[in-house]
Amino acid sequence: MNHLPEDIATALESSRRRRPDVVLDVRWLPSVTSTMDIAAALASDDAPAGIVVCADEQTAGRGRRGRTWQSPPGAGLYFSLLSRPRLNARALPLVTLAAGVGVRDGLERATGLSTDLKWPNDVLVGRGKLAGILTEGSALGSQDQAVIIGIGVNLRRASYPPEVAARATSLEEELGRSVDRGHVLAELLRSLVDSVAAVERDRDGILQAWRRSASSAVGAQVEWTDAGTTKRGITAGIDDTGALLIDTGNRRECVFAGEVTWLTGGQSNRE
Ligand code: BTN
Repeated sequence: MNHLPEDIATALESSRRRRPDVVLDVRWLPSVTSTMDIAAALASDDAPAGIVVCADEQTAGRGRRGRTWQSPPGAGLYFSLLSRPRLNARALPLVTLAAGVGVRDGLERATGLSTDLKWPNDVLVGRGKLAGILTEGSALGSQDQAVIIGIGVNLRRASYPPEVAARATSLEEELGRSVDRGHVLAELLRSLVDSVAAVERDRDGILQAWRRSASSAVGAQVEWTDAGTTKRGITAGIDDTGALLIDTGNRRECVFAGEVTWLTGGQSNRE
């Protein structure tokens, strides 16, 4: 760290001129295991909020629920933002939702592409996953609590393995043209910072923004496992803590985390 590639440096500089209030310390590494590891180590060393660790390639990129996030060189954006939200434990899941809203807004601003959020925070175009978000906490509940927000965006087809091609997509495939990755990164960071900051002062606004952007959160048929039992139901939105509500016919269940399988789309799904 830290020699920013020229395209990244130029885009960040232009973004800084437009929004001098967004102060970020963006660090670039050619190759890392995972940007999450580097950001977590910085968090444990008392590094301040606003550090962004980006890499051209990750050799052990990780996704939610122990999955791998393939991160070949230059094919995607891979970065982690160190945030230190002043929130109690109950409100922390909202940081994850806010990150989804920030990524959605940033992608739209940078490219004009409209995306859909799927609980808790997949970023989709139709059925294809375009970006993923992983949040990990450090020293939660203490004065030093930190939330590391990791974002992976598929820039081109080479960013994801062929076996997931039916349920993945990339910016270049969706737009039918090449994209300026520096510009995308700069817009994502700006939206992300705004959206995460909003959790502290306008939780309702974040919840509303998330609900507006998540067509499958209402009216979709889903399946999930609860204490070893597979259950089915229809999504009924999210509550104010960010939990997914599911109607099973005789009762309404709250799912806080875990694996939900979508069997159909939701209310305004494009399927
Ligand atoms: C998911 O959808 O499962 C979450 C994927 C998150 C991937 C990003 S890439 C940057 C950061 N570093 C990682 O190892 N993971 C996140």
